[in-house]
Amino acid sequence: MINLSVPYLKGKEKRYLKDCINTNYVSTVGKYVVSFEKKFETIFGFSYSCAVNSGTSALHLALKSVGVGKDDLVIMPSYTFAATANSAIYCNAEPLFVDIDKSLNIDLKKLKLFLNKNTIKIKKNFYFKKNKKRIGAIIIVFSLGNIPDLKLLNDIKNKFKIPIICDAAAAHFSQYKNRHLSTFNLNCCYSFNGNKSLTTGAGGIFATNNKYLYEKFFNFANICKNKSGYGYNDIGFNYRMANINAAIGLAQLEKYDLIKKIKKQIYKKYDYGLSKLKNIRKIESENNDFVSWVYAIETNNSKRLLSILNKNKINIKYFWKPLDMQTPYKNYQKIDLHNTHKIWKNIITLPSSASLKNIDQQKIIKIITKLDNEL
Ligand SMILES: Cc1ncc(COP(=O)(O)O)c(C=O)c1O
Repeated sequence: MINLSVPYLKGKEKRYLKDCINTNYVSTVGKYVVSFEKKFETIFGFSYSCAVNSGTSALHLALKSVGVGKDDLVIMPSYTFAATANSAIYCNAEPLFVDIDKSLNIDLKKLKLFLNKNTIKIKKNFYFKKNKKRIGAIIIVFSLGNIPDLKLLNDIKNKFKIPIICDAAAAHFSQYKNRHLSTFNLNCCYSFNGNKSLTTGAGGIFATNNKYLYEKFFNFANICKNKSGYGYNDIGFNYRMANINAAIGLAQLEKYDLIKKIKKQIYKKYDYGLSKLKNIRKIESENNDFVSWVYAIETNNSKRLLSILNKNKINIKYFWKPLDMQTPYKNYQKIDLHNTHKIWKNIITLPSSASLKNIDQQKIIKIITKLDNEL
């Protein structure tokens, strides 16, 4: 079976894990948590980071840290993983779904138009005219690690001053115009789940250049516990990453350049092998050097392609199903999701693990090429 994305555990993961067991530091206290954060900050260029037990936890506490609370709205795409919407709902807020564009990212032009036309400013806050609810934050999901037009995002940030959180769950290798995301002063939440390009088993991190936000986040993630003893300053969350997860993560970060290089080669082979096909389209991107989490294609007959790939023991499924089409989320507010509803069934993600064998990748390319005329 060829899977979509499996971990590449070929560094010092075992050695560091053994060290955790030998020293008895298997929980949230331990040297690997801090080393993992420091290494992350060095590679990605952020001033501050706080490692937690999942990408979902990072999103939840990022929203809490920017002040999202009861009855607020959090703007986000409907085309995303459940965690994006759940993080708002955990804050007793509600998602407000906006459309995506061809890059599978939130359509920033539609977002700007919506904010201009459908919100009203009262004091420092913007409220949705229709139901008078405050817009507490905007979550920009970097779909597959694809980065949207950051200049336009910056215009929106400057004009509306609504807190922006980036769901960078799969954006470990993403830069924008050859610059680290940290240089754009974004507040990013990454996932280190086992299916991501870099993993800690389960885990996530909040990364920012904003000291105030970092301190709020850190406090929440550590149960709002005062420095000594069992004193608490607020209702917190037991979300800190454990030492054993950070041990795996540190070993992964030490292989950052290698894993990125291998993944780049895999994408180049897909690009080369699939670019001339009539009925397969690559996902558009603002960046030429885009190294996504997994390689994605668009085709009008994804059902047939999926079924043939599955028959050949290539274990892939449809990618995200829009959240507004699913029972738990269908009653939340949404705005013109035309493109989301049109595109989602055409998206297929292809196996892209760093450990993907060349022979397996060539097999995938061959099957798709052979089917092209029928799609
Ligand atoms: C877009 C997006 N956001 C958030 C998450 C949540 O991350 P985690 O699984 O680490 O909680 C994921 C995980 O796949 C994701 O794809």
